[in-house]
Amino acid sequence: MDMQDFKKLTEVYGSPLFIVDESKIMHQFNQIRTEFSKLYPNTEIAYAYKANYLLGICNLINELGGLAEVVSGFEYMIAKSIGVEGEKIIVNGPYKPKDELIIMIQDGCIINVDNIEELELINDIASDEGMVVEIGLRINATIGKIPWSKFGFDVEGNDAFDAVCKLKDQFGNIDLKGIHIHIGTNIIYPGLYRQAVTIVLGFIKKIRDELGIDIDYIDMGGGYPVKDACPANINFKDWSVPDIKYYAKAICEPLNDFYKDDDNRPLLILEPGRYLVDESMSLVTSVTSVKSIHCIRSIFVDAGVNILPSAYYRKHKIEAYTDCKEKELTDIYGALCMNVDLLEAGVVLPKVKIGDILNISNAGAYEQSHSMQFSRLRPAVVSIKDDDEIVMIRRKERVEDIIRLERSVYE
Ligand SMILES: Cc1ncc(COP(=O)(O)O)c(C=O)c1O
Repeated sequence: MDMQDFKKLTEVYGSPLFIVDESKIMHQFNQIRTEFSKLYPNTEIAYAYKANYLLGICNLINELGGLAEVVSGFEYMIAKSIGVEGEKIIVNGPYKPKDELIIMIQDGCIINVDNIEELELINDIASDEGMVVEIGLRINATIGKIPWSKFGFDVEGNDAFDAVCKLKDQFGNIDLKGIHIHIGTNIIYPGLYRQAVTIVLGFIKKIRDELGIDIDYIDMGGGYPVKDACPANINFKDWSVPDIKYYAKAICEPLNDFYKDDDNRPLLILEPGRYLVDESMSLVTSVTSVKSIHCIRSIFVDAGVNILPSAYYRKHKIEAYTDCKEKELTDIYGALCMNVDLLEAGVVLPKVKIGDILNISNAGAYEQSHSMQFSRLRPAVVSIKDDDEIVMIRRKERVEDIIRLERSVYE
């Protein structure tokens, strides 16, 4: 499919339009699974739904054999709605209300516990149900410039170890079966994963040696970067993304070393979000007007930052489809009545005219799920299947979709 085809799709489904290329999701999924399994065969890939929970995408990854990683009852229900079984759902996140936990426990999903209150709650639920619940413990450590220390138990202090002692001594309805860590997002240094897995293994050794606890799985979370997801504060030339095989080495080498004498190695779980979906999706938008603002060519398009929220903090590759060859430095403004609705500043683009389209690539991760319904209705999403068949996986929003939750008169 080329830009001419994209233009035709906007004529059918409207502009702006999100386009998913399923082959790219398949490629990324196979790539990460292959590179890790080569070094550590007992690996499972769990897709982090928060990156993009369009049903069509979650379903595709489910069909590819991916597990689901969810962080709320809402995401959990999305997984259930497409038929993912409880045992294939990993539940993370800092807040898991009791009613949601009950269902998740009954469904047999893998729950990574974030805090001591949650541990107590699960123990109570399990005791009410007359069962023993297997759980994982999320830990955090000082890794990278901005450690994700909000989540889980601090492993460098005593929090994590104390929690395991408490679990062993006081929570008879809980069995510790896994350790989870997630160190951030879009991480371009594989060495940080080596550091993380080494800390995880150190903790596993401590609870094995001192408490006699053996675990069944290690969940290393997500954060694997993609080539074009360059943050706005970094120069494109300084943004160099190592191949996923280096992440596999960073994680699997210490694992293989630690378990070299063990026939029964724990399951390794990875939770990629961005890595699986970012490159698969692009946003096609049409030019609606052209101005000169402070002597800079400024084009206006029919998409806005409400549907491309990452425009605030990262760069996107943008291509124009036009018959004009002449290029100029251009600012691209969105369609929202909001001064900060700037999709990209200072890009060299052909001198597009009204009705020409732009293709904004890498719009697959954290655009749909972070998008806001602000002033304008959100566009349709179409998916290009393997055989080039086009399927609409989300129709354009209608006014009724938004106002049906509200009342204008009160009795
Ligand atoms: C627990 C957990 N796992 C996985 C992910 C996915 O991260 P990414 O999209 O960077 O791979 C996140 C993202 O915040 C997360 O919080």
